[in-house]
Amino acid sequence: MSSVRNVTFNFRDGKATSVAVQQGESVLDAALAAGIPVLHQCRSGSCSSCMGRLVEGRAGMRAGASSTLLRSEFDAGDRLLCLTEPETDCTFTLNYESDAGAAGAVKAHAFVDSVEKVASNVVRVTLELAEGSWFDFRPGQFIQVRVPGTDITRSYSPSSTAADLPKIELLVRLLEDGVMSSWLEHAAKPDDVLEIEGPFGNFFLREKVPAPHIMIAGGTGLAPILSMIDTIRRKPGRKPPVLLSFGCATPEQLFCLGDIALRQHWLPGLATRISVDQGASGDLLSGNPVDAIRHDDVGHADAVAYLCGPPRMIEAATQRLANFGLRPENIYAEQFTPSN
Ligand code: FES
Repeated sequence: MSSVRNVTFNFRDGKATSVAVQQGESVLDAALAAGIPVLHQCRSGSCSSCMGRLVEGRAGMRAGASSTLLRSEFDAGDRLLCLTEPETDCTFTLNYESDAGAAGAVKAHAFVDSVEKVASNVVRVTLELAEGSWFDFRPGQFIQVRVPGTDITRSYSPSSTAADLPKIELLVRLLEDGVMSSWLEHAAKPDDVLEIEGPFGNFFLREKVPAPHIMIAGGTGLAPILSMIDTIRRKPGRKPPVLLSFGCATPEQLFCLGDIALRQHWLPGLATRISVDQGASGDLLSGNPVDAIRHDDVGHADAVAYLCGPPRMIEAATQRLANFGLRPENIYAEQFTPSN
């Protein structure tokens, strides 16, 4: 029996390409060696960038490898291709166009402009690319930032857009004893230089969809969602209706409410629901941003959803939206897991 498996990738733009995967080789390694532009970053199961959906054949994830894939995602056919070895010939769908990974990531330098505390546990960091440095990104993608004086990198999705370059804005959750958190709180000052690399990730706005957009953000998962909303509002022509459901644990942990209100002013089709788990008062909803989504929010057959937050929020939101009839292929998600 042949130990070489034929693996086919179907991109969202209808392009398909195949590669032979040797026994013991990961699907991602084989694809990259063949020049197939599969999005990726860590190559070790921790970033979700290489996610593909198995639609034909059998393929498991390497035994013992830890990954960010949720059980419900695995059961639905999702695989992290960097940890996946085919057991038979297989076909994967990739939920992005064949040119999405063509540009690749670049390294750049950026100066710190400011670090501002915007909630009890969140800072807004503004950066400016150094002269001669440049990269492009799609709204929702992430960059890696090296903690100065260390070899440690952290991943952040800009809340700004490529149109704001050379300025980049990040929303960073402060973690007790976190290396980046400590540097930002105690050492960072204007004009410090940071090494950054990007863009990475397959969580980005599919810009040509006119159907309603449902966006659910937990904590600093708001950052890529703000980038997407800003991209939609700057787009010429008719804009899709957008529902943003954003939540944090307490009112003290909420942030960027003024930025959200400003975007509602600029984008009249933007509706918002802001929730807190505890201490709701006034316009705040009590509960989480997933519970704030109602059945009639998913009234359009082609509605799309973007979810960004902790794994449990992603799992609950995916389940709720699917129960309400949203097509699984129209749900895009990015987990934010704290690194410490
Ligand atoms: S490349 Fe990061 S999970 Fe596969």
